[in-house]
Amino acid sequence: MTDLDYRRRQFLQYALAGTVAAAAAALPSFARSEDRYILNTEPDPAFKPDVEIEFVARVAEVPILRGAHTSVFKYDGKVLRGPHSALKTMPGYLGPIMRLAHGQKVRIFYYNKLPEPSIMHWHGMHVPQKMDGHPMSVIDPGERYVYEFEVKNPAGTNWYHAHPHDMTGPQVYRGQAGLITVTDEAEQKLGLPDGEYDIPLIIQDRRFTAGNQLQYIFGMHERMTGFLGDTILVNGQADHVIPVKTRAYRVRVFNGSNSRIYKLGWEDGTPLTAIGTDGGLLEAPETRPYIMLAPAERVELWVDFSGRKPGTDLMLRSLEYELPQMGGMGMGGRMGMGGMGGGMGRGMRMRGPALGESISVAKFHISKKVSESPKLPKSLVKMRKLTDRDVSNPDRPVPIAATMGHMSAQLNDRSFEMFETMDIERIPVNTIQKIRITNEPGGMGGGMGGMGGMKGSGMGGGMGGMRGGRMGGMGMMAMPHPIHLHGQQFRVVSRTMTDGDTGSYATVREGFINSGWKDTVLVMPGEEIDIIKPFEDYTGLFLYHCHNLEHEDLGMMRNFHVS
Ligand code: C2O
Ligand code: CU
Ligand code: CU
Repeated sequence: MTDLDYRRRQFLQYALAGTVAAAAAALPSFARSEDRYILNTEPDPAFKPDVEIEFVARVAEVPILRGAHTSVFKYDGKVLRGPHSALKTMPGYLGPIMRLAHGQKVRIFYYNKLPEPSIMHWHGMHVPQKMDGHPMSVIDPGERYVYEFEVKNPAGTNWYHAHPHDMTGPQVYRGQAGLITVTDEAEQKLGLPDGEYDIPLIIQDRRFTAGNQLQYIFGMHERMTGFLGDTILVNGQADHVIPVKTRAYRVRVFNGSNSRIYKLGWEDGTPLTAIGTDGGLLEAPETRPYIMLAPAERVELWVDFSGRKPGTDLMLRSLEYELPQMGGMGMGGRMGMGGMGGGMGRGMRMRGPALGESISVAKFHISKKVSESPKLPKSLVKMRKLTDRDVSNPDRPVPIAATMGHMSAQLNDRSFEMFETMDIERIPVNTIQKIRITNEPGGMGGGMGGMGGMKGSGMGGGMGGMRGGRMGGMGMMAMPHPIHLHGQQFRVVSRTMTDGDTGSYATVREGFINSGWKDTVLVMPGEEIDIIKPFEDYTGLFLYHCHNLEHEDLGMMRNFHVS
């Protein structure tokens, strides 16, 4: 037994005893390749899978743009056992769509043939810690990981992606992602559009060199704001046109971008009808003028093309919006950067459109007239009620405070530590918790472009730094953060703008669907969001983090220890 194995084992014992802090203290700092203590390399003979799938992550050259192929990190998939429809190949660099059913037992052999450590995570799926793809489970090139779990999720749209510490952003960027659909009986009874009328819409912004190679972030500034590309890929393809017939479709929209937030709207002003969110179907359809979709979020749309003229096009766009800034000063929201902080003016413009700028997303081409179309059901599925009466801490919500400061992005004033948890991060298993997510600026945006502008003192200072900054009367470093929690899906119970620029907020506020199952919720600067989340069935470390992947890699990630 190596020294490291010994330390891992010792850690495990501490963890089982529920004293993670003691365990963390007992551990010297890990090198990345040692940042793991739970591995699962062999199948369990007692587990009888209904579906067995193999995923291989590898470097591949794929066609994305006209001309030269692009070097990417791709997941190849193969069904080893069970229905062949369990995987559907996607074009370009995307992994195949994994099509599962509630109650199925799934075994996945994952082989890392990338030139760097990685691990796969099943985003939105309720699985045990060992099967969750926590960064502590990273495997080296040439190794394999075996996942075995039962599908506990209801019908809905989830996804999978790479989750190594520090490298999630670049790996997902290069193609390490794919969709997961789950079906169940309640969904099947509804007779929603299926087969060719049930389509994915995976939206990702990318940036390419003249030689068609993917280009990632430029320096620290872009690490702070997050990557913003100039080329929108839909289902892995540029300038994507989707041919449709004059009837209703189910469109599973998934924002697979690293950091871009879309305000989805039809070019001709037709409202959007949502039938599902991250974790499943809604109780009833909801119609909105536009829908905000942050990285990792999904929204299922009912899109009815009946009555449209064959030969015409309908464009789905990301409409213009402004980011509320703190302190009600309204700075930044109307600046060229679309409000990335009052100080970061035009000079800091990324090479892609700024957050909040209007862009085209996907073109639907009405190609054929048909006479039949299904009708939108008035009600969809029954959802479990989750109210204050069900939670164990109605008056003491668990905080998730997002702060940004000088070169840092943190949660609850801490950066990610592989095994560390604070008191407030320890959750008794089989309880339902109320969690309060806030977004306060951690430093000052200071009136000029570039990192110097974020020279706020906010960081270690926490609240003090922020208040000070506000009094300084400068533009704040305030960004929206899509906060994601591993494990079970949660519900949003309230969303309040506590402070900030209501004029800018008015450009986004109607776009949040708060009634459905969520695993990722966008918290705008100045917003306070209360959620209710069950922590049932499984113990261990479960992550919560910002799903702006550049923020995540900066350390805006923590663990809950469920025990
Ligand atoms: Cu999309 Cu930690 O996950
Ligand atoms: Cu996740
Ligand atoms: Cu963030």
